[in-house]
Amino acid sequence: MKHKIILDCDPGHDDAIALLLAAHHPAIDLLAITTVAGNQSAEKTAYNALKICSLAQIHNVPVAMGMQSPLLRPAHHAANIHGESGLDGPDLPEPDIELAPQHSVDLLIELLLKSEGDITLVHTGPLTNLAIAMRREPAIIPKIKAISLMGGAIGVGNTTPAAEFNIWFDPEAAKIVFGCGRPLTMVPLEVTHQALVTPEVLQRLRVSERRVACFAADLLVFFAETYLRIFGFVYPPLHDPCAVAAVIDPTMLHTHRMRVEIETKGEWTTGRTVCDIYGKPAQEPCTHVAYALNVPWFWDTVIATLLSYD
Ligand code: RIB
Ligand code: CA
Repeated sequence: MKHKIILDCDPGHDDAIALLLAAHHPAIDLLAITTVAGNQSAEKTAYNALKICSLAQIHNVPVAMGMQSPLLRPAHHAANIHGESGLDGPDLPEPDIELAPQHSVDLLIELLLKSEGDITLVHTGPLTNLAIAMRREPAIIPKIKAISLMGGAIGVGNTTPAAEFNIWFDPEAAKIVFGCGRPLTMVPLEVTHQALVTPEVLQRLRVSERRVACFAADLLVFFAETYLRIFGFVYPPLHDPCAVAAVIDPTMLHTHRMRVEIETKGEWTTGRTVCDIYGKPAQEPCTHVAYALNVPWFWDTVIATLLSYD
């Protein structure tokens, strides 16, 4: 049975790999790509999604442009990590597909309202689009089968000591989404930092000499240079595909169900995902926080899917 998903993303190098995984894995039916401002502006992340889809000849999936800025705060893009284009590194041909006519928020609402309640939302960027969609049309909330998102941290953040980028960029949006009551799997930095792009991973992609796999390797080389320069990582963590992997086979991630609150008022802690790891919540919380990933399975799955493109 294929999982119907909508991928809401801010390409972004790791978003690009998540998109390629979602579009070609046999267990996933990718209904739409809704982009959002985050790593770069709404225009640039949408344009990057179009370029990735064109390169990989993904022509049957609508790509929409989304919210330009967070609900309340100014946008602070991550050009230091993803570059001015949001996808610096390898040259990409101009897209041969157009944007969908709908805004990301409208496309999310349209697809969810007409669904049988069988769509999983996968988020690999800030949660602004979904938060606005929920406020605009609350009837979509019970229609969401589940949410899988890359974001947050049980401990130390990556944008501030307290906060991970996707949550930090729009904490008010994250508060709305985490509080919506639908089953939510949070894939935090503690898990994505297990998915390291080692030379062996790059070699497995390059030895294929397949166009899309080699493009992915080129993207990851740029990403690796950034992570070494900024974070001192010898090998970069591939964050976003972990949120897709959690849908492909949830048994490959070890999760704990717990209460997670989003800090929106802290002078130094805004954007923190406050995980109640010891708590005995009064009522069953709906957030499943991932702790561990089956790393060999993850890389076998990502690499096999990238090699499946011609
Ligand atoms: O903190 C990592 C997340 O922020 C990833 O989604 C990356 O693409 C950036 O958006
Ligand atoms: Ca992202």
